[in-house]
Amino acid sequence: MDKVTTSRLVEMKQKGERITALTAYDAPTAALLNEAAVDVILVGDSVGNVKLGYENTLPVTVDEMLHHVKAVKRGNSRALLVADMPYLSYELDPKEAVRHAGRLVKEGGAEAVKVEGGLEIAPAVKELLRANIPVMGHLGLTPQAVHRLGGYKVQGRRPQEAEKMLTDARVLEGSGIFALVLECVPDQLAREMTRKLPIPTIGIGAGPECDGQILVIDDLLGLTQGPAPKFVKRYAELRPTALDAVKRYVSEVQGGKYPGPEHTYTSPKASLAEEH
Ligand code: KIV
Repeated sequence: MDKVTTSRLVEMKQKGERITALTAYDAPTAALLNEAAVDVILVGDSVGNVKLGYENTLPVTVDEMLHHVKAVKRGNSRALLVADMPYLSYELDPKEAVRHAGRLVKEGGAEAVKVEGGLEIAPAVKELLRANIPVMGHLGLTPQAVHRLGGYKVQGRRPQEAEKMLTDARVLEGSGIFALVLECVPDQLAREMTRKLPIPTIGIGAGPECDGQILVIDDLLGLTQGPAPKFVKRYAELRPTALDAVKRYVSEVQGGKYPGPEHTYTSPKASLAEEH
């Protein structure tokens, strides 16, 4: 199978081929996604709340991202490997953005980075491109802005918000991003942006008319606990299955049922003591 590149994604949009994207945080999951021919693997800063036990994505550091990007790189061969830039690693200074993204690319093996925000981060996007680092944008519900947004809410419902998002998308596209994630955006707005932009839109809670879709892998597999957002479709329910397996293990060890003879090594002689 051919390696997926940023230009291949643009070509997929032009041909009307839907783009598939999922998050991954470790090598075995990346290998699984490759086997299923997923086009884009995002090492999301969702690693913070999904895997590292943080309340949200804000505490995630470049070093933590790097650790997971390296692991995913080892399991990936085909998908385009995109790494999220964590909060405050790109907003303050475009040169700092290049330094941090450069580590994700040079040390981690990422092939592109993703940044959240619009107009305000255009200088960072341009600087990253000057350093030959492809950039994916992210508009709508941008989780790094959770405190400003007042929670995880649908964005762009009001006409002024929708207008601002369209402007931001145009500016980002003009700055050179190769694709744009739209998170929790009404489907009409996502459709309009998808039609107006020459680059692919990748939706998460943005309706069916984006050029592609992305989900957090743990949501798709049913590994996350508690109620999921409306846009999540659980294709499996692995958490209850895992919980049941661990409970049975505990009960069998406590009851002396595990390990059985089939899990036990023996020596050819009945007992080493018999040799003497
Ligand atoms: O961090 C993440 O996983 C993301 C996706 C949900 C788009 O940004």
